[in-house]
Amino acid sequence: MADFDLRPVSPALGAEVVGLDLSRPLDPRTVEALSAALGEHLVLAFRGQRLGDADLVRFSGAFGRLDKAPITEHGRLNAPGFEEVYVISNVVEDGRPIGALGDRESAWHADMAYLDEPPFASSLYALEVPDEGGDTGFVSTLASYDALPEGLRRRVEGLSLKHDATTNSGGYLRQGFEVPTDLRSSPGSVHPLVDVHPSGRKALRLGRRLHAYIPGLERVESEALLDEIWRHAVRPDLTWHHRWRVGDLVMWDNRWTMHRRDPFPADQRRRMHRTQIGARHTLESVQ
Ligand code: OGA
Ligand code: MN
Repeated sequence: MADFDLRPVSPALGAEVVGLDLSRPLDPRTVEALSAALGEHLVLAFRGQRLGDADLVRFSGAFGRLDKAPITEHGRLNAPGFEEVYVISNVVEDGRPIGALGDRESAWHADMAYLDEPPFASSLYALEVPDEGGDTGFVSTLASYDALPEGLRRRVEGLSLKHDATTNSGGYLRQGFEVPTDLRSSPGSVHPLVDVHPSGRKALRLGRRLHAYIPGLERVESEALLDEIWRHAVRPDLTWHHRWRVGDLVMWDNRWTMHRRDPFPADQRRRMHRTQIGARHTLESVQ
C-alpha cells in the first residue's frame, strides 16, 4: 500500500499527492510509487511543504541524477551553495536580479529541450508567490499529438525539429548567446518531432516555439507548419493551470509535458526554486 493518496486535479492531467512530508527522506518504495504516479498523471502537486534547498535536492535526487541549473539571462544564478538549484524570481536585491524569468509571461516549453538529453523531470518549489497571476500551466504532449487533425498528423510523421539553445522561455537571451540569424547553424539540438511513449502512444516534441526550425524545410514553410501545429497542441481544453501557494512543490514529467507561466504584477515578489532531474536509466516507471 502506498503511504499517500492521489487526487486528480483536472480531466487533462495532473494529480495532487496528499499525505507526504517531503522534508523527511522517502523510502524507496514510496519513490517507486511516486515515479509510477508521475508516469500516469504527468504532473504531481504536493501542498503545504516546508523545504530548504537541501530537502529539495534530496527529494528530487531520489528520482535520478540532478543536472546543474541552466544559465539565465543574468548569468549563473543558482541558489547559494546549491549548483543544482535554479532560482526563478523577479526579485532584485542590491540592484541585482536573484533569479530568472522576471515577471512576464513565459511561453509554452519543455525545460532544456535544446540539450541532447533533456531532463526527464523538474521540481518547482514556491517560496514566495504573488497575490494574483504567476499560475503555471501544463499540457500533455500525448494529448497535443492526439489533438492534431489527421492530415497534419501525416505531415509531421518522420520530421525532426531543431530546438533553440539561445533564448529561454521568457524570451530572454541567455548570457553568452546571440540572437540567432540562421536557424540552420545556430546553437541547439535536433530531436524527432514525433516521439513514441513506452505505451506505444505518440507525442509531439515541440520544446518551444521561438527560433524553432524544421530541418529540410524553407524557413517560411517551417514557420507556417510550426504555427499550425502549435495552434492545436496547446488548445486550452488540453491544459491545466496550477494556482500557487507558498509551500507547494510541483513536479512534472518533462518528456511528455510542456508548461508555461502567466505574467504577474511587477511590484509583487515571486520566488521559486527548481531542480532538474537528468535523463534516468534505472527505476523506469512508465508502462
Ligand atoms: C520552470 C518554469 C515557470 C514558473 O520552472 O521551468 O518554467 O511558473 N517555471 O515559474
Ligand atoms: Mn520551465
